[in-house]
Amino acid sequence: MCGIFGIVTAQEQNLGPILIEAARRLTYRGYDSVGAATISGAKIDLRKDTGRVDDVAARHGLAEMSGSRGITQLRWATFGAPSQVNAQPHLDSDGDMVGAHNGNVVNNVELREQFLAEGMTVRSHNDGESCVHATERYINRGMDFIEAIRGAHADLQGDYAFVIGKINDDKLYAIKKGSGLVVGIGEGFTCVSSDLPSILPLTRKVLRIQDGEIITLWADRVELHSVKDGSLIQREPEQIVETMEAVQKGGFAHFMLKEIHDQPQVAREVMHMLAGSSDVQTVIEKIRAARHVYFIGCGTSYHACLAGAVYFAQVVGKAVIPVLAPQFIPQYLPAVGSEDVGLFVSQSGETKDVLNALQSAEARGMTCFGLANVIGSTLTKATSCWLPLCCGYEISVPATKTFTNQVVTFLYLAYRLGGRDVRELDAIPALMEQTIRSTAPQVEALVEAVNRWQDLYCLGYGATYPMALEGALKLKEITYAHCEGMLSTEFKHGPLSAVTAGLPILFATGPDDVPVIISGINEVTCRGGRAIAIGQEDARLRANASDLITLPKAEAEISSLLAVLPLQLLSYHMAVARGYDPDFPRNLSKTLTVD
Ligand code: AGP
Repeated sequence: MCGIFGIVTAQEQNLGPILIEAARRLTYRGYDSVGAATISGAKIDLRKDTGRVDDVAARHGLAEMSGSRGITQLRWATFGAPSQVNAQPHLDSDGDMVGAHNGNVVNNVELREQFLAEGMTVRSHNDGESCVHATERYINRGMDFIEAIRGAHADLQGDYAFVIGKINDDKLYAIKKGSGLVVGIGEGFTCVSSDLPSILPLTRKVLRIQDGEIITLWADRVELHSVKDGSLIQREPEQIVETMEAVQKGGFAHFMLKEIHDQPQVAREVMHMLAGSSDVQTVIEKIRAARHVYFIGCGTSYHACLAGAVYFAQVVGKAVIPVLAPQFIPQYLPAVGSEDVGLFVSQSGETKDVLNALQSAEARGMTCFGLANVIGSTLTKATSCWLPLCCGYEISVPATKTFTNQVVTFLYLAYRLGGRDVRELDAIPALMEQTIRSTAPQVEALVEAVNRWQDLYCLGYGATYPMALEGALKLKEITYAHCEGMLSTEFKHGPLSAVTAGLPILFATGPDDVPVIISGINEVTCRGGRAIAIGQEDARLRANASDLITLPKAEAEISSLLAVLPLQLLSYHMAVARGYDPDFPRNLSKTLTVD
């Protein structure tokens, strides 16, 4: 989410085309506004607006911009609506410094008040501007840039990286705290960016920046200082030899595996966004007052709707109707009206089944909201109010990080509506990291045994029921085996007859549902089946299941979400072991724009 790029060149030159190309290469992160600034002697040229890179570039003539230092930024709104004034970069009070950030400054509102009280000129509501004023505050006290950025770092709370420059100087400065930052070193220039794809077309000599490091960029060299004590840090640049595609995969063998590992970070980002979004309040108020609430989606997005409905009932005590989008019209349309609310959920925002349901619901006067990952998609344009999933591009056809962020969003809405402290959810990213790390070897140890079978079952109960359905969908989608997702208690009503010696059956369980899951496990194991449980460490599960994939200790709601992670990993490793490309399964497309 958001991206920054800065460049310092030996001579004044036309920097516009370089900045536009760098911005294009950051678009995969998601954005709604674009800006560029060049510094030439005592002059700063700043041009920015809402819209796509090429549109903003054409409207404001970005290609003509020149100087010896340049910054571009793609903004994805969190603090302050998408608007020209909130777009980045930002000037300091008297317009002789310019900077831009990526990330979230969570104490932005308080800082803005302080800056105004100190007599600074604050033009926007955007937290990127706070990074500039936080530096200005210390420059005004006579400090040099390194000291000023150290002071700013002490004042700015949250995860971010920013780049900043001043007139009549020959340098840019940057800092990393929580958000990505890489430096490129070329012939006659240096540059800094949120990510490698915008650097690699210019140079393959890079320095990877760590949290707590301040970078000074001259055209012919860079220096790193520790934000802690200002000391100089020595680091040798590295030469990137991988192809652009390998770089985009972030060192993982497939996009799917990278996206599985992206989940903790994007969960962090969506929760930051939700905390600062005024649209959340609108959605919550309408849901609170609604006669009936529908969560509507297809495939993976429908499974998130199911999970959302479970959380709304458990956390808020509010019944919600989860619906597969194509079934909405024949089953519910005659019953809906203006007293009802629909939340339409789609990663792509282009799924025709979802858009059909939306169109019909709107015609009946229903209040319709969207939950989508692709900004600018039809769903985001067709709903007056929508919430973004903040995942950046999800390239792999099987949805992973967009699913977990849909679920995190539903959990967040349920907590807010139910009056529960949303800070409890701050534990999610670290628990996801721990789950991925600890379950990966446990899953890999089971791949060979499970992969011998072409018919599988994945069962859950309560909040893990939607996770079981999602796990089964992932398995089918990329291993081409049949896997049926079911409520664990339904298994005895028929499919139990399919159990033969060694048949693996996956059981996902939350900590409160262990007794009921154990009944299901025993029905299977006493007939020779292999019950693979996924749940928190529990003596009862250990004693009854054939295998236990252990999840870290967590609250029940969060635990159900964690259960899907080993199922994603299992599907991935089974597909790879079968020789299939999990990113692009046969017959499927990422976006389904047909009926
Ligand atoms: C999930 O792995 C699939 N790619 C698929 O089920 C997908 O979730 C479904 O087609 C809906 O897509 P959407 O979220 O873009 O609307």
